[in-house]
Amino acid sequence: MTRGEPGADLLFQAEIREVVRTAYRDIPAGAGPVLAERLYRREVVGTLPSAAVTWALGVGDPVAAADLAPGEVVLDLGCGGGIDTVLAARAVSGEGRVIALDLLPEMCERTRAATEAAGLAARCEVEVGEMEDLPLPDQSVDVVISNGVLNLSPRKSRALAEVARVLRPGGRLCVADLVVETDLPPEVLGSPAAWAGCIAGAVSERVLRRKLARAGLVDIDVAGHRGFSLDEVGLYPLFTPEVMELLRQLLPREVQQQVALSVIARCRRPEGADDTPLAAPSVAISGATPLAAIAPDAVEAPGVTVRHLKGVEDAQLKVLDVETGGSTPHHIHAHAHEGVVISGRGRLRLEGGDQLIGPGDAFSIAPREPHAIASAADEPLRFVCMDCLFD
Ligand SMILES: C[S@@+](CC[C@H](N)C(=O)[O-])C[C@H]1O[C@@H](n2cnc3c(N)ncnc32)[C@H](O)[C@@H]1O
Repeated sequence: MTRGEPGADLLFQAEIREVVRTAYRDIPAGAGPVLAERLYRREVVGTLPSAAVTWALGVGDPVAAADLAPGEVVLDLGCGGGIDTVLAARAVSGEGRVIALDLLPEMCERTRAATEAAGLAARCEVEVGEMEDLPLPDQSVDVVISNGVLNLSPRKSRALAEVARVLRPGGRLCVADLVVETDLPPEVLGSPAAWAGCIAGAVSERVLRRKLARAGLVDIDVAGHRGFSLDEVGLYPLFTPEVMELLRQLLPREVQQQVALSVIARCRRPEGADDTPLAAPSVAISGATPLAAIAPDAVEAPGVTVRHLKGVEDAQLKVLDVETGGSTPHHIHAHAHEGVVISGRGRLRLEGGDQLIGPGDAFSIAPREPHAIASAADEPLRFVCMDCLFD
């Protein structure tokens, strides 16, 4: 147990970002022509600069689904080696522009080289930046595309709010990404390679749709579902032979046939002023509504009240009140679980014994670790829990 400090990163966001940064910085090449020919039409692959093909690391072909028109301004989020940047730059011809953005300067360099090799550098700007904090003005882009990138964000809602902010009214988002519908084993969810390989950070289609809607995007269409087997996962250099072996041991055979689904999600920012999407800084978090005004959700434990806080989608924030002398039942969560005590005292009951908890204490529970939280005999307990990054 650790003392909660203001600003403590209870969702391991910095850690996840470091895993992603290191993984992509260290790979010697992308997944190459074998993957590219699965994702893109073969005749198109033949026309691309070979380095862009070598560095292909996406999960679909967002440009083919984006209906790009000459003159449009496109943002390629997480451009990697630049394969989609080149395709988009061709499609917007004339006055059109592509802004290619990536977390890693090394990737930006590759995209720059690819656009030069394709003779399209004059139409492309390549920038180092993070999708959660886009270095672009409001309403400056017609279309945002991205390929295998959103899944890598520990702050997907924030990234989508940024997308909504930079899109002009009526502007479109077209993203190829993975969705995962099965409960993956905790060892897989906790594996750096699985995070960097888009699997551990993937949400279900339902959650993806909800996140898009909460960012204020409309006309959401999720299509092009295509199963990704474990063998296809092995095409990506992020998955070393050791990690692949581990996945083979851990994943049930039926899950190995389809670890994830790649999808193309399309939506747009509405035109009207009334339905302007929420920009990230204006997302209402607790405090806008007094806690007492938030209706509690039904729970079976007597004396335990759970209120879901809206607005901080990634964190799945809940406030739990346990009345004096009460307890939650023993329970488990599929994913890592974090809590911070706001007021009162009590006990965190784990199989290895009880831990005393009081105001400001932060605690974390491992995936599938049975636990209960009890208040003291003479004081009610209130704590916030963050049900990890997943739904
Ligand atoms: C799976 S690769 C996909 C690359 C490229 N879109 C493609 O289709 O080949 C993910 C890319 O996203 C970048 N990335 C990861 N997290 C990011 C973030 N928070 N902001 C911007 N780029 C990010 C990585 O550096 C990497 O180049």
